[in-house]
Amino acid sequence: MRYEPVTRRFDVGCGTGEEVRSLAQIVGPQGRVVGIDGTERLVAEARTRTRANPIIDLVLAMRMRCPSPRASSRQVGWSAC
Ligand SMILES: C[S@@+](CC[C@H](N)C(=O)[O-])C[C@H]1O[C@@H](n2cnc3c(N)ncnc32)[C@H](O)[C@@H]1O
Repeated sequence: MRYEPVTRRFDVGCGTGEEVRSLAQIVGPQGRVVGIDGTERLVAEARTRTRANPIIDLVLAMRMRCPSPRASSRQVGWSAC
């Protein structure tokens, strides 16, 4: 997968956070990555695997609809399941 050079990323449907960890390397220490998933045990596992990285936030939530195109900008990138 190819990403634009933005400093904030959301991975909607982050599972155990493999993509989140890749995104964290891409955005670097000044960036921020938020992973969202609707399955509690997957979010718990993702938290365990990313515990040492302070730029990652993991949220237990269900996506109800696709993010608006207006939500995307040069500052925020979306990666969805
Ligand atoms: C193919 S996996 C994604 C793998 C993940 N990107 C990774 O890097 O490991 C799809 C994930 O989307 C989540 N999911 C599916 N529908 C969802 C929804 N409506 N809201 C939140 N999470 C959802 C599932 O729980 C599952 O973990």
